[in-house]
Amino acid sequence: MASLADAGLKFTTLPHPAPASDETREAVLANPGFGTNFTDHMVTIEWTEGQGWHDAQIGPRHPIALDPAASVLHYAQEIFEGLKAYKQADGSIALFRPEANAARFNRSAERLAMPTLPEDVFVEAVERLVQMDRAWIPDAEGASLYLRPFMIATEAFLGVRPAKSYKFIVIASPAGNYFKSGAPAVSIWVSEYTRAAPGGTGAAKCGGNYAASLVPQGEAIARGHDQVVFLDAAEHKWIEELGGMNLYFAFEDGTLLTPALTGTILAGITRDSLLTLAREEGLNVVEGRYSLDQWREDAASGKLVETFACGTAAVVTPVGRVAGRDGEFTIGSGGPGQLTQKLKNRLVAIQRGEADDTHGWIHTIA
Ligand code: PLP
Ligand code: COI
Repeated sequence: MASLADAGLKFTTLPHPAPASDETREAVLANPGFGTNFTDHMVTIEWTEGQGWHDAQIGPRHPIALDPAASVLHYAQEIFEGLKAYKQADGSIALFRPEANAARFNRSAERLAMPTLPEDVFVEAVERLVQMDRAWIPDAEGASLYLRPFMIATEAFLGVRPAKSYKFIVIASPAGNYFKSGAPAVSIWVSEYTRAAPGGTGAAKCGGNYAASLVPQGEAIARGHDQVVFLDAAEHKWIEELGGMNLYFAFEDGTLLTPALTGTILAGITRDSLLTLAREEGLNVVEGRYSLDQWREDAASGKLVETFACGTAAVVTPVGRVAGRDGEFTIGSGGPGQLTQKLKNRLVAIQRGEADDTHGWIHTIA
């Protein structure tokens, strides 16, 4: 695939004339939280019908001007990605499987009738931002620089059809723990709402999916839980995923199950990586169906020993408690389980360059 230069795109670099002071940056890095602090720069690339991608720029992070009729503001033609840059054990910097994010971004683009971006351009854009803002990558264990590439429809037009102009943007945010509570295991609420129906946009990473999850997520928080779990839309029976994470179920007989990608679930890159790592651990890994009733029954009988959520933001997070309108149940001891911890350690060790990257997942940045 063509790089930016090969595609005839000139990447303009404009260093911030007044970046954050060392003091400000250090204060953020000491306590990054999640998603509230941002680095000095951003990437923007424009797309116009008839011209394709043009005006690639990395420059000071700034508010963007949009016409009030811009399609994204009316019909939510928007997609995004989430990936992280990690400080490596040897002091270098690496991205984890950015090519997989680039590929998923294009699958989302196709579902939302948006132009695709050459995968190498996506990766190069992310790389350039990380290089420019490398001082913003936290060192602390569990911390990283979260990258948010996204694309919006910018054409000023109120008719319902794909826009004729788009903006691709990458911003970066130093990240610590996604869950504020810092609890050893999270508690999840089974929603009566559904997230995605067959034939809908559940497999795409588009803003609309997340807008629809806010009320159920709010309900979960109001009831004292950390996250919401969605069941399938057709039967309201089969477990799909959380608002922003995939799920795994570990059984006492060495089986590890995750809901299959049926088109209503996001194909998580963490989920995919754990499929490989779990197989290497000798587990019987199954992508299949699992019902809420079975989950409750297996948790009670002890057949199910662990459940964990996984995603870029959440990494690997144990689920200790599940509650819904029919009551509540505890998984295992209600705390982190051994397998969850083992898989998390293996994944994190690869991401941080502390274990051999035997799968070619690490994308080192000079
Ligand atoms: N499911 C949803 C709905 C998500 O938003 C995410 C996060 O991106 C995931 C799953 C996990 O995907 P990944 O592991 O690629 O971050
Ligand atoms: C991610 O894990 O990257 C996501 O986009 C999930 C979101 C809930 C922050």
